[in-house]
Amino acid sequence: MATALKIVPPEARVTSFVSRKHKMLINGKWVDSASGKTFPTYNPATGEVMAQIAEGDREDINRAVTAARNAFENGPWRKLTASDRGRLIWKLGDLLEENLEEFAELESLDNGKPLTVARAADVPLAADLFRYMAGWTTKIEGNTIPISVPYTPGARYLAYTLREPVGVVGQIIPWNFPLLMAAWKLGPALATGNTVVLKPAEQTPLTALRLGELIQQAGFPDGVVNIVPGYGETAGAALAAHPDVDKIAFTGSTEVGKLILQAAAGNLKKVSLELGGKSPNIVFADVDLDTAIAGSASAIFFNHGQCCCAGSRLFVEKKVFDKVVDGVAERASQIKVGAGFDPNIDMGPLVSKEQLDRVCGYLESGFSEGAKAVAGGHRVGDRGYFVEPTVLVNTNPDMKVVQEEIFGPVVTAIPFEDASELVRQANDSEYGLAAGIWTRDIQKANRLAADLRAGTVWINCYNIFDAALPFGGYKQSGWGREMGHEVLEQYTEVKAVCSAM
Ligand code: NAI
Ligand code: MG
Repeated sequence: MATALKIVPPEARVTSFVSRKHKMLINGKWVDSASGKTFPTYNPATGEVMAQIAEGDREDINRAVTAARNAFENGPWRKLTASDRGRLIWKLGDLLEENLEEFAELESLDNGKPLTVARAADVPLAADLFRYMAGWTTKIEGNTIPISVPYTPGARYLAYTLREPVGVVGQIIPWNFPLLMAAWKLGPALATGNTVVLKPAEQTPLTALRLGELIQQAGFPDGVVNIVPGYGETAGAALAAHPDVDKIAFTGSTEVGKLILQAAAGNLKKVSLELGGKSPNIVFADVDLDTAIAGSASAIFFNHGQCCCAGSRLFVEKKVFDKVVDGVAERASQIKVGAGFDPNIDMGPLVSKEQLDRVCGYLESGFSEGAKAVAGGHRVGDRGYFVEPTVLVNTNPDMKVVQEEIFGPVVTAIPFEDASELVRQANDSEYGLAAGIWTRDIQKANRLAADLRAGTVWINCYNIFDAALPFGGYKQSGWGREMGHEVLEQYTEVKAVCSAM
């Protein structure tokens, strides 16, 4: 493995944005935090401080919620036609695309992911999401309902439903796809006519802040989108508990998802949660092994394994177990690790010191319980937050590395023989976010897809995302769905109107 860790400097326009004193967007103005405090973000390739960001706290959240409430109740936003609302959201997608290169560079620098990946995936997917949601604004319809009402014989009624925005929405997002998660959250909230207070992750606020500038440039009325960076325990908790927030949408750890739920209980705000995963990726012996090996490696190593849907439990039919594991291990050892800006790398650093320690802690725990690495297993270098792509064997179902979400480039490979036992093993997780199946037998694949308790099942592919495809979890992987038309339900209230005639 190449472990040179050459640090390629970013482009000047990006460094000039990064080195600004970053403020927060409240009611259409860029303002300092009420306390005047700032917090640092770090370059994950070097561990050095990279930017200073206004540190939002309860008071800033209060100001932002007041602005969002006012924009919702009194501003021009609610009076826009559906078509005009769609036009604004479409324009935001266009602006994002016009600035694709800058956003890709910022994302790579902030999160550590390869620039090539941010350019090919994160930014185009975010732009596409806005366009997809823009198309929905004119198609959010209610029903007319033929009611009978047995206790008013002879009376006639016209009954119909209206789909209305929930109101002020708080959105808390993570650092693994900072821009894309902002788009997944803002797109449907705006398409359905809500106003928003968005809190980006403290590790990666830069693209959300730059997106705030595009939101202004697109012409959204003041206060419709407010962006308050800050820490989870302070700004995030204040937003989740705020009595004037009608809905909270969260993506992050299952642990914090449960805290969000408790905080939301105060005013019974609506809650949607997109949480962790420990997804099974299943390879049958009948498949083209090279394709399955390549797909299984990318299922875990894409985005350095920092994906809630990462294929982190690799189940392989026993008779091809060694072949597939060797193949995935070989691919792992060929992955070039280095700074995101280096055009010659395949994998960047993890996002933070905290995640580096967490992933290395899991590796140690696996080794101490008897797991063996057939590829990787260690940190790379002593600067920045790099970890080797790792394939673990000799595991058993009770090990922490098999049960818990590692959120790093670490896969546990497990052999199986019998299909019914496989279903039990694959479903033996508190999570239920995604699953992968590699086989040529379409009947077997569809049967298994039905038996797996997961919100997404990929057959002979993995990590395929589209704005039109709903995404979310069974079990402790979350509540509700993102994207597709399913997400619109989570951002609307249904009003039944009954009129005597
Ligand atoms: P986290 O769940 O603590 O952070 C996610 C977001 O929630 C951030 O914006 C954070 O500021 C906010 N937050 C944290 N505590 C909060 C609180 N008490 N109230 C309101 N908001 C709060 O995740 P963290 O600590 O960054 O990562 C820990 C683990 O979580 C990872 O190792 C991974 O297993 C999982 N994770 C899952 C993600 C997913 O996409 N499902 C994304 C990020 C992390
Ligand atoms: Mg946390």
